[in-house]
Amino acid sequence: MAEKTALCEAASLAPGEMARFELDGEDPMLLINDEGEFRLIDDDCTHAIASLSEGRLEGQTIFCPLHGGSFNIRTGKACSLPCKQALRTYDVRVEDGTVYFLG
Ligand code: FES
Repeated sequence: MAEKTALCEAASLAPGEMARFELDGEDPMLLINDEGEFRLIDDDCTHAIASLSEGRLEGQTIFCPLHGGSFNIRTGKACSLPCKQALRTYDVRVEDGTVYFLG
């Protein structure tokens, strides 16, 4: 059975906002409020060393702050160079107003 870890109150992240989380034993993850749906993806860019939490979100695309490559936040797929490798995506669930990571 999947373990679930509370990340934050759903109301604390408005649509278009994002927050980085570092959980024990996991790579840094980025939680994004995508028009009311929560997405959880790797926070580390797959191109080099950069935190996507410092990047720019435009719709469903997040742009890396370092070289401007981009990813789709719903699929993790790389959308523009120099990014080629997809980000991992993770399962989240909202229960009683709290967002959980299902690890
Ligand atoms: Fe992200 Fe280069 S580190 S595009």
